[in-house]
Amino acid sequence: MANEVKTIGVLTSGGDAPGMNAAIRAVVRTAIAKGLEVKGIRRGYAGLLNEEIFDMDYRSVSDIIQRGGTILYTARCEEFKHLKVQERAAEILRKHGIDSLVVIGGDGSYRGAEALTRQGINTIGIPGTIDLDINCTDYTIGFDTAVNTAMEAIDRVRDTSTSHERCSIIEVMGRSAGYIALWCGLANGAEDVLLPERYDNNEQEIINRIIDHRNKGKAHHIIINAEGIGHSASMAKRIEASTGIETRATILGYMQRGGTPTCKDRVYASIMGAKAVELLLAGERNCAICYRDGKYEAVPFEKVVNGSKDIPEDQYRIFQILSGYR
Ligand code: ADP
Ligand code: F6P
Repeated sequence: MANEVKTIGVLTSGGDAPGMNAAIRAVVRTAIAKGLEVKGIRRGYAGLLNEEIFDMDYRSVSDIIQRGGTILYTARCEEFKHLKVQERAAEILRKHGIDSLVVIGGDGSYRGAEALTRQGINTIGIPGTIDLDINCTDYTIGFDTAVNTAMEAIDRVRDTSTSHERCSIIEVMGRSAGYIALWCGLANGAEDVLLPERYDNNEQEIINRIIDHRNKGKAHHIIINAEGIGHSASMAKRIEASTGIETRATILGYMQRGGTPTCKDRVYASIMGAKAVELLLAGERNCAICYRDGKYEAVPFEKVVNGSKDIPEDQYRIFQILSGYR
């Protein structure tokens, strides 16, 4: 039988994402408003195993909604995949009186939460990753901020690329997910996007398009490359050698993961944080909050982590039309 909800723990895990602080704040303040105790856990599952657990009150989350990163710090913890370690973690939670846990992270973090449910802890997940690569949800905390940051940076690179009549390869984050690349492709009016979900390694096709565009008088050619494709610098050298057009690579890197969260990330993260507490109190466990078709809903972890998420075909098709593919 599921435990009664009296004391909620909250942690952030995996890659950080702007807006995580808004979610933490909402978990803490909603829990307090409902008469519950709330404890913060620093450094994800690694910190849990080290008992980095502390009491939180209304003021613990003052002045954080506007900050990027996570006040709870985050970590990756390989050993958490082992049953014995999960059993120890559940014991630690019980020792600190924590019956319920809110995990803010990606689907790896959800697997850790699912494991803790098997050990008798009530768990609920909040989607936190700039990559937007969590199944069953159209929103993850941090994507909106990251994609806006990348978009602004790419506009700047585009200016100088046009002045010098160069080709630019701009690498954005997304090890196995092309959402940031695709959205920037649409928002920045790029000529090509290379997505882990779609790229077929046909570099010759890109080269042909660059030459074709140049012959038609285009001053620049912007290629947005998702991190998962990689090799931006060597690709730039090969393209320059084949086309005779100066080509530069820019890797945007971690600047995309930090910074002031957008209004959307603050608001959606706040709603998800509050709903996490409300759903636990309503008896939901072992599930993640998802945002779909304009609604927030609880979806079992099992369904979220075992499904796969592809980029929307219509967005990719429209990108291709607008960037002059035939
Ligand atoms: P994300 O949560 O952003 O997907 P990771 O995949 O790095 O990030 O996962 C974050 C952490 O979640 C891991 O370091 C590990 O502690 C935990 N985790 C990942 N996969 C599992 C698993 N299969 N079982 C238990 N814990 C896991
Ligand atoms: O948080 C997601 C992400 O930024 C991916 O896009 C990227 O591949 C990965 O995290 C990088 O993580 P790390 O902090 O381990 O370099």
